[in-house]
Amino acid sequence: MHQLVIASNNQGKIREIRPLINGIELLSLKDIGFTDEIPEPYHTFEENALVKAITIQKFSNKNVFADDSGLCVNALGGEPGVDSAHYCGERNDEKNLRLVLEKLKGEADRTAYYKALICLIWDGEVYYFEGTCEGRIIEEKKGSGGFGYDPIFIPDGYEQTFGELPLEIKNQISHRGKAVKKLVAWLNEKTGMNEE
Ligand code: IMP
Repeated sequence: MHQLVIASNNQGKIREIRPLINGIELLSLKDIGFTDEIPEPYHTFEENALVKAITIQKFSNKNVFADDSGLCVNALGGEPGVDSAHYCGERNDEKNLRLVLEKLKGEADRTAYYKALICLIWDGEVYYFEGTCEGRIIEEKKGSGGFGYDPIFIPDGYEQTFGELPLEIKNQISHRGKAVKKLVAWLNEKTGMNEE
């Protein structure tokens, strides 16, 4: 069976990605013995996803993929964007989402979207897969599922936040779900692995 390393320590992301990829052996950073923080020094999702994938590819010499993602709020000029993970100055989901709510106080336009950029390095070649998910930010958090900004984000077409909707629904419509499905289609074509 082919192997593929997920270049992430974010358990929220890994929990979502795992059920979407079958027919290939997925390795975690723990499995390959990588214990450092992966640097993400850039200002675009593409560059950060690439640097994460390259770091782990060099370390493991295996095929790898990395997800760089974030929440972009239109009234905040696209913030928190690439700084989503540590918008408040530290890696703290609760403080990050409180900061977004604070900055949006009194703001009429509460539209936002999530974006996920997956960078795959397969046999030394680099490929990108992208997904977005449009929605809006509510006034107070609801639900305790998902991770990050999910309790304050309602996807278009729904009345519940990603913190309330089950993982199966989130995976069908989310930025990450869409990007991973493109990755799976590519892998299926390349390796003949099972899509389902
Ligand atoms: P990264 O590790 O730099 O890609 O950071 C991604 C950050 O974006 C996460 O830590 C969350 O704050 C936010 N984010 C990305 N995707 C999601 C999602 O699906 N739900 C909630 N927050 C997300």
